[in-house]
Amino acid sequence: MSITLTPVLSRTWDQDRSWTREVYERHDGYAGLRAALQKTPDEVTQVVKDSELRGRGGAGFPTGMKWGFIPQGGDKPVYLVVNADESEPGTCKDIPLMMANPHELVEGVVIASYAIRASHAFIYIRGEVVHVIRRVQNAVAEAYEAGYLGKDVLGSGYDLELTVHAGAGAYICGEETALLDSLEGRRGQPRLRPPFPAVAGLYASPTVINNVESIASVPSILRNGAEWFTAMGTDNEDPKMRSKGFTLFSLSGHVATPGQYEAPMGITLRELLDLTGGVREGHQLKFWTPGGSSTPLLTAEHLDVPLSYEGIADAESMLGTKALQIFDETTCVVRAVLRWTEFYAHESCGKCTPCREGTFWLVQILRRLEAGTGSREGLEEDLEKLLDICDNIFGRSFCALADGATAPITSSLQFFREEYVAHLEHGGCPFDAAASTVFPVSTPADGATGVRTA
Ligand SMILES: Cc1cc2nc3c(=O)[nH]c(=O)nc-3n(C[C@H](O)[C@H](O)[C@H](O)COP(=O)(O)O)c2cc1C
Ligand code: SF4
Repeated sequence: MSITLTPVLSRTWDQDRSWTREVYERHDGYAGLRAALQKTPDEVTQVVKDSELRGRGGAGFPTGMKWGFIPQGGDKPVYLVVNADESEPGTCKDIPLMMANPHELVEGVVIASYAIRASHAFIYIRGEVVHVIRRVQNAVAEAYEAGYLGKDVLGSGYDLELTVHAGAGAYICGEETALLDSLEGRRGQPRLRPPFPAVAGLYASPTVINNVESIASVPSILRNGAEWFTAMGTDNEDPKMRSKGFTLFSLSGHVATPGQYEAPMGITLRELLDLTGGVREGHQLKFWTPGGSSTPLLTAEHLDVPLSYEGIADAESMLGTKALQIFDETTCVVRAVLRWTEFYAHESCGKCTPCREGTFWLVQILRRLEAGTGSREGLEEDLEKLLDICDNIFGRSFCALADGATAPITSSLQFFREEYVAHLEHGGCPFDAAASTVFPVSTPADGATGVRTA
């Protein structure tokens, strides 16, 4: 496969005022909706099924299949809910997408709602990103003015209302059932399943919940056809390697040019780094996350693993949200893992014991290990205890937040056990924390305006 970037969602991001309806319409905007309205709702769902689009929110569930689960003809309304809560550490694609090209999302919402026969859709955006909320609200208002939303969409007889809802800012509200509770006005905590949202979701009615990028990918599929989409991605011939289409890969951390890179599924990190200027000058890759901090760490050994659902699974990690956080040799892996674990302990909603208590104890042990205090026997005991707690959390908690919390710990012990030992031998962290920052920092040693760029 010859690899180049494939800007589809990002095709207008360099245009002046790219977020306006006028710019979007000049770049095939709402052509996908016009094509969709020429088809029946079931035909639209079939196109999305044929495209093999898989959810971009982390789990990779086939989008068309999810739409097909919605029971039709019942007496309850059907809802579409867009998950725009994006808050996993390292994950940063939906917010730039909504800022630069909110109409692609709005168009996708109208097409998806039409396909599942919903007459009311919601976009749930995390509350802290007020600028993003305003931008999406403006796009929705522009879409109403142009007749893409509201009564009789483009004269088709189809009616759709779209509500933009601001969350209050909790990582757990990105979990789809916690999101539904939050949207209904309750404290966001995951729900017991079954019933699944397709049967009893928002207001106990059939509901599809999809990620921003999943929904924003739909207009181009309707514009260009399912085959155009399946022509991109991993090898069609191999039934085990079916990760189709383009997607946003978010490069952050110790790279020369961090940002969003839209490329076919199956590109490797090595190829992405070659296309984007590589690891920051003078440094080497130490470890990376393929899909945010909830996915097991990988190392330089994995540079040629295809960034596809199956390729990354074969490397015993997960593609997740394709948030590629890159860490060079200046980074202390114990410190990085501690920070992530503190995040999960803070964000644990407290509903179930393994996660609520387990993440607390993981933080206590990791703090001790990072401080490098105690004896060699104590260290071995702590490392065993970390793995034991992870084992008692993984698969035994109510939702996937807790499984994700264990991923950096178990994978760092698999690849960097000696670094935990080095903390004990050194009597603290052997790394210079300032050397790993990519921005200027002030330290007492440098004086008030000191700059450390390593
Ligand atoms: C703790 C937690 C946080 C999550 N946060 C998000 C999020 O911010 N955005 C998102 O789309 N999915 C998130 N998910 C995944 C959703 O539960 C759900 O799988 C996804 O929205 C489905 O959309 P998709 O099929 O289009 O990927 C999260 C899951 C968990 C367990
Ligand atoms: S696993 Fe954690 S976040 Fe999920 S329900 Fe249990 S306590 Fe809440």
